[in-house]
Amino acid sequence: MVEIQSNSLLIELRRDGGAALHRQIEAAIRDAVRAGRLRIGTALPPTRTLAGDLGVSRGVVVEAYQQLVAEGYLTSRPGGYTEVAIGQEPAAPAVPSEPAPPPMIDFAYGRSDVSHFPRAVWMRSIRRVLADAPNERFLYLSGRGMPELREALAGYLNRVRGASVDPDNMVIVNGYAQGIALTIAVLAQSGARRLAVEDPSADDDARLVAAAAGIEVVGVPVDRDGIRVDLLERTDADAVVLTPSHQWPTGGVLSAESRAAVLRWAARRGALIVEDDYDAEYRYDRAPIGAIQGLAPDSVVYAGSASKTLAPGLRLGWLVVPRRLADAVATAKVVADRGSPALDQLVFADFLTRGEFDRHLRRMRPVYRRRRDALLAALREKAPMLEPVGIAAGLHLVTWLPPEVDEAAVVSAAAARGVAVNGVTPYRLTSTGPGGLIFGYSSLSERAIVDGVTVIGEILSRGGVGSGRARS
Ligand SMILES: Cc1ncc(COP(=O)(O)O)c(C=O)c1O
Repeated sequence: MVEIQSNSLLIELRRDGGAALHRQIEAAIRDAVRAGRLRIGTALPPTRTLAGDLGVSRGVVVEAYQQLVAEGYLTSRPGGYTEVAIGQEPAAPAVPSEPAPPPMIDFAYGRSDVSHFPRAVWMRSIRRVLADAPNERFLYLSGRGMPELREALAGYLNRVRGASVDPDNMVIVNGYAQGIALTIAVLAQSGARRLAVEDPSADDDARLVAAAAGIEVVGVPVDRDGIRVDLLERTDADAVVLTPSHQWPTGGVLSAESRAAVLRWAARRGALIVEDDYDAEYRYDRAPIGAIQGLAPDSVVYAGSASKTLAPGLRLGWLVVPRRLADAVATAKVVADRGSPALDQLVFADFLTRGEFDRHLRRMRPVYRRRRDALLAALREKAPMLEPVGIAAGLHLVTWLPPEVDEAAVVSAAAARGVAVNGVTPYRLTSTGPGGLIFGYSSLSERAIVDGVTVIGEILSRGGVGSGRARS
């Protein structure tokens, strides 16, 4: 038996003396039309082409097509081509539902002002790296990442964040999101059963990943200084994820006493502290507080990210891990993706070693500070019932709502007037507390900030957003 296949149409001919060739072609096309594989309007290959593909005379294909035209499966079009005449219309492209209009003023958190991304300087680093990097830098890397970048970051973190970093204990990752995922994977491998997180806290990274890995997530309430260490001590957690330099979202800064207490807790339990240092670079009114990692490098996984300092789309982040975990985390990185892109790492290393990162931060701090100040002034003037907290650092602040005001009602009334703002409550695990609004101000002009706060102030002063019950 010899089977012959066409390239232009899926037809297999059997030349074992069975059915006539033109009948086999007819049957194949008929079946394809009935099954919907050939849809109405589909052009068939010219008879000469199909005949050539199948190794049959053109007359065989002409006979098959004529028969199918007679049966109504095919139709001949002027110009000498043949197309499918029956069957289902091709599925109409789904009509996209009307997208919601984008908010006119968006107090989104978690972004930097990417319109200030230092494109020209970054471009110079790209050019230098492409001109100078040795060929082997474009091969597969070790899971730890590019040595040049680890070296440059270690210098930066030791100098600016008071960290204690050995480049051998660093792993370059695709942002904090991957850093926390790899850390939790390694915790799970080592048998960790319970992870403590701040309550409220971000709901799209550690909490999700730990739950997916079968690790129980325990929320520990925060107060104005960050996590309540007295309550952390009551958990049986194997690790805790903290944002000590600017609690997300409430903005508390963990005091020196609390830092020492967390470290004592970790040492007693043999627990790991994951320090998410996500926007430590922006401090406005108070001296920077060093990273906890610098106090206890063997108990802390330090996680940093370029998302707030440069741009989230870069997906550049770094972990500094206790020496005993470095191989395991690097292996997890290799398993995840065989390493972050080489070029981006080299470019960032060049940018850092030339002092451009420091220069960029020096340029951005006053920009963000002006926006923060505009926000605080607008809150005072237009929405004095809102109490801002966590204002000394970062790119967002929280305002607590008066007890009688319903957070969700304010968020949706603001959205209806083109102002997007997030509530705090969706980020709570089990803690209770006042409603609050999260004002990200990094990407808004001072004018837009004032306008947005004015809208929210009007919503609050007009009423109609009450919970109907006073909170205690
Ligand atoms: C609490 C917190 N940590 C870390 C990050 C940075 O995440 P990534 O580096 O994955 O962009 C963010 C970004 O919004 C954040 O809000």
